[in-house]
Amino acid sequence: MAVSYTAIGNNKKFIILTYGCQMNVRDSETIAGLLEAMGYVETVDEREADLIVFNTCSVRHSAENKVFGKVGEVIGLKRKNPDLIIAFGGCMSQTPEARAILKKQGVDIIFGTYNIHELPSLIEEVLTTKKPVIRVYEKAEGIVENLPAKRQSGISAFVNIMFGCNNFCSYCIVPYTRGRERSRKPDDIIKEIKQLSRQGYKEVTLLGQNVNSYGRGLEEKVDFPDLLKMVCDIEGIERIRFTTSHPKDMSDKLIETMTSEHKICEHAHVAMQAGSNRILERMNRHYTREYYLNLTRKLREKVPGIAITTDIIVGFPGETEEDFEDTLDMVRKVRFDAAFTFMFSPRAGTKAAEFKDQVPLEVKKARLERLNELQYGIATEINKTLEGTVQEVLVEGPSKTDPDKLTSRTRTNRIVIFSGSEDLIGKLINVKITEARTFSLFGELV
Ligand code: SAM
Ligand code: SF4
Ligand code: F3S
Repeated sequence: MAVSYTAIGNNKKFIILTYGCQMNVRDSETIAGLLEAMGYVETVDEREADLIVFNTCSVRHSAENKVFGKVGEVIGLKRKNPDLIIAFGGCMSQTPEARAILKKQGVDIIFGTYNIHELPSLIEEVLTTKKPVIRVYEKAEGIVENLPAKRQSGISAFVNIMFGCNNFCSYCIVPYTRGRERSRKPDDIIKEIKQLSRQGYKEVTLLGQNVNSYGRGLEEKVDFPDLLKMVCDIEGIERIRFTTSHPKDMSDKLIETMTSEHKICEHAHVAMQAGSNRILERMNRHYTREYYLNLTRKLREKVPGIAITTDIIVGFPGETEEDFEDTLDMVRKVRFDAAFTFMFSPRAGTKAAEFKDQVPLEVKKARLERLNELQYGIATEINKTLEGTVQEVLVEGPSKTDPDKLTSRTRTNRIVIFSGSEDLIGKLINVKITEARTFSLFGELV
């Protein structure tokens, strides 16, 4: 499909602005692959771009606001370059509210999460008709395989194993923007990872909103642990990660597979969301705090040294001080290695946005601050225990904060910054941890 579009790009420049989760990072790699196949070349400077693509997130109000602001800013660039095309995709495109605003803002293309592969033909249409085009579908027509991808790293790759979500947590927009859960066929996934291995990739992260339910609806009888085993058998791939895990579907079979397969890294991202049973029920999460505690205990027992990370929402409708104390209590009990913490943000169309007992913003802010203070303290304490130890790391490249140093990751997904020569990039090596901070570690070669 790519060949027929080559002339259109004609070395014109594109930039992709990516917001949101790893799914979007992966989708942007596909968009970049499609655009390069059209003859476009990537730039890092939006002022010199002929095509600006937004790949957006609607999980929280703050994420959306940031994007509207940025659209306003880049629309201004059209004054200098009237041929500039602004294409808008991702989860925000799937919501009618956002589409209405974008139309007024004057973007040229709005495409959705189910038709990324149509972007080249939409660009062609705009170039020919000089008129804006909106093409967004309500649901997915199966999975489109074999799209080109321009991966961001040559070392570690994101691999989608499924799309969409069936869980309908009462606060969450994702089932509406990404549709019903669809698993890719194991053969397609394995083929992709074998190719990554041939290209020299050392690590893959298997992506899905709930990887633990992988395989449902496929003709072949295969579940997530089965898939993991198949990936482990691929030569050249040294580390395997996955995200994210819904606690309710995290099976003993998966935990056993993590224990027995050395390539699977000792890290589980298991979103807890809240520590109060009353709130968990209103969130439609289908587990209790007792179940969650038991699950994380089992993980620590069966997978020694495992890092457990999580997502937590504060200020969900109806959350009392007592409910919030239950969350803090769970944070103390589980001792998360890291947590992404959020204030509840009502999303139009979701059940929780309709709940009458919304928590005032000031209360949410204060709770988020208390939660972060507790969690950062715990993360720092855990990291400090690593000082003096030797860790195996995969070297990813120059550090973003200090380009003279290298950045790398432990099996438990901690960032380690150290001094070393560039030929270490892409290698698995040992470093000794010399200093631990809340969000990263510093080390030296051993
Ligand atoms: N599928 C993943 C899971 O269940 O573990 C979550 C994916 S979601 C894109 C990432 C996180 O955003 C969620 O775990 C939740 O903590 C947070 N989130 C989702 N909807 C939210 C909302 N309306 N307000 C605040 N945080 C929200
Ligand atoms: Fe959203 Fe829940 Fe699905 Fe995660 S499992 S994407 S939080 S609906
Ligand atoms: Fe991801 Fe945001 Fe969509 S978190 S699935 S990009 S709503």
